[in-house]
Amino acid sequence: MKTAICPGSFDPITLGHLNIIERASHIFDRVVVCVAANASKTSPMFTVEEKVEMVRIAVKDLPNVSVEVNTGLLAEFARRYEGSVLIKGLRAASDFDYEFQMDLINKRINPALETMFLTADQRYTFLSSSIVREMAHYGAELSGLVPEEIIGLIEGKANIKRR
Ligand code: PNS
Repeated sequence: MKTAICPGSFDPITLGHLNIIERASHIFDRVVVCVAANASKTSPMFTVEEKVEMVRIAVKDLPNVSVEVNTGLLAEFARRYEGSVLIKGLRAASDFDYEFQMDLINKRINPALETMFLTADQRYTFLSSSIVREMAHYGAELSGLVPEEIIGLIEGKANIKRR
């Protein structure tokens, strides 16, 4: 069984992430969305439990997609799925520079691990979790940026953080 691992912070999941996950689900037998619990990002907006809940809601109609939390190195996590490959989305050349570095460090840890890149859908090349967090902070419209079903969760969290 060919497994794709779609890793990320998902703080929160965006329609850009979901587009990559869905396209990977058409190519691979199984997709594991790997939510990083200890990503080095400072002050995340959401807890890991909230991130996982939002990802689960977002992928609920994709039967070969599951969601897991990773508390360690991604390259070690990938060992759980024999022959798996990492899938990353590329929005711009600047993404590639970072992802190239990540691939090299991941290969030092797990030499068998390959990373494959899917180019972002042009509708989402501007989109990132940080843009969504910023929009939510200012109470801006989130429709078209994140799955409709999680907009209420994001707005609720933004309201709490604003207080
Ligand atoms: O959505 P992001 O923030 O681009 O995702 C980055 C992520 C979470 C995939 C990456 O930071 C990660 O896998 N972190 C786990 C720790 C790790 O393996 N780091 C690379 C070796 S130093």
